[in-house]
Order: sequence, then C-alpha cells, then structure tokens
Amino acid sequence: MAETRVRVVGIGMGPQHVTPEASEALRSCDYALAAEKSVDDPLLAVRRQVCGEHGLELVTVPDPERDRAAPAAGYEAAVHDWHVARVTAYARVLASRGGTAAFLVWGDPSLYDSTVRVVEALAERLRLDYDVVPGISAPQLLAARHRIVLHPVGRPVHLTTARRLHEAVAAGETDIVVMLGGAPELTAVGDWSIWWGANLGTRSEELVAGRVCDVVAEVEAARERARASAGWVMDVYLLRRESAG
Ligand SMILES: C[S@@+](CC[C@H](N)C(=O)[O-])C[C@H]1O[C@@H](n2cnc3c(N)ncnc32)[C@H](O)[C@@H]1O
Repeated sequence: MAETRVRVVGIGMGPQHVTPEASEALRSCDYALAAEKSVDDPLLAVRRQVCGEHGLELVTVPDPERDRAAPAAGYEAAVHDWHVARVTAYARVLASRGGTAAFLVWGDPSLYDSTVRVVEALAERLRLDYDVVPGISAPQLLAARHRIVLHPVGRPVHLTTARRLHEAVAAGETDIVVMLGGAPELTAVGDWSIWWGANLGTRSEELVAGRVCDVVAEVEAARERARASAGWVMDVYLLRRESAG
C-alpha cells in the first residue's frame, strides 16, 4: 500500500482566508477527511466548498457522540474518550485508502481544535508522516475587524474559554480573549471594555464594542441576529480592565 501522509491545513473562516501556502498543500493531497456532525453541518459545507475549489474529494466520517452531559470535572475525560473514538474512525479510512489526506481545520489548528492531537494519535497507530499549515484564527480576525491590538504595549494577553473566564478574572488577568462561549456571562466584568464579534468572516458577521455594562444587551441582540441569519453562532471577544496598569 502507498505510504500514508496527513496534512493538517488551517482554512481560516472560509475560502477567502485560504492562504497560497494552504492552497498549495490542499492541491498536493489525494482527498480530504472530515467528521460529519450532522447532515446540515454548516462548517462541513464550507469545507466542501474549499475542497471543491481545490479539486479534492471530501470523505466524511460520522462524528462519534461526545458526552456533553459530563459535569465540568469530567469534561477532559469526555473529550479524551471522544478523541479516541475519532482516531479509530479516521484510522479505518486512512488504513484502507493510504495516500495523502488533508484535514481542513476551521481557523488555525493551534487554537481550541483537536485535529493535531488526533493526528498525533493516528501517527502512533499507523505509519504516517504529517505536517501542519497555519490558518487565520478567530482572535486574529476579531482584532483586525475592531482594528485593535489584543494586549497593551509590552503586556500579556490571556486566552481562555467562557467556562474558565471567572478563573482568569480571579487570577488578576486584565486582558482576556474568550472563546468557546455560550451566551456570555459578563456580570463580573461589567465595568470592563469588550470587543466582541460573532460569525466573523461570514455574511452574518456581527461586531459590538464598548463598556460591558453599556453594551451587554446589544451583544445579546447581535448574537441572536447572527444565529437567526446563519442558523448557528460562534463568538469571540476581548475583555480589558481599562483601569489596569
Ligand atoms: C472549536 S474553536 C475553533 C477555533 C479555531 N481553531 C480558530 O483558530 O479560531 C471554536 C471557537 O472559536 C471561535 N470562533 C470560531 N470561528 C468564529 C467566527 N467565525 N466568529 C467568531 N468566533 C469564532 C468561537 O469562540 C468558537 O466557539
């Protein structure tokens, strides 16, 4: 059987963000592999479009169920089990097809995405080589849309999930990028500034900026508009405690 190779390719928020490097990587592949979460998965539709533009067959693998009912303490274990199930599903396809497979990653593979870990595990199971091509991430697009730098001069920025926001605030972080939110819970940071964006890079993009307590209702309304327009909503935001420093 031909040697198996995997290319993990960041596609940003869609075809307009596929860099020449990513494009070249996709053209070098024999097919793309993607998890199918549901028949009308909107991000799968974007992957399909990118594949179409690169003459790449998209092979879908039903996504194993993740235990979303797991309590916060069991979150990492639930994600681990889900990764193992994903690895098994992909290993089957890779072992039977061989060749060079692409994984198209939303945004950049380095941020809140399991593909690199899944491919590491695949590399342990199968004889395969892999590389990673970067893409434009949601925080980068957020910063560009609002024309901001994510951190004050010479200071750090903390990147976390909505689930862990309270920990970051309690730890004294003053510049926090929040991803993987549900509706944001912002009461503890009412006097902070927020630069918020939803469905960035898509036709249903929404942006709001201001003092949290002044714009929280606007954020909620914009979030619902994005969801109503696209049928899904993903948001990312920078929170800054202006009085710091
Ligand atoms: C599973 S993570 C994937 C992140 C991705 N790898 C990246 O580089 O941005 C999904 C989270 O990224 C953020 N995100 C992804 N796409 C977005 C978009 N188009 N607009 C706003 N936030 C987005 C949201 O916080 C969402 O909950």
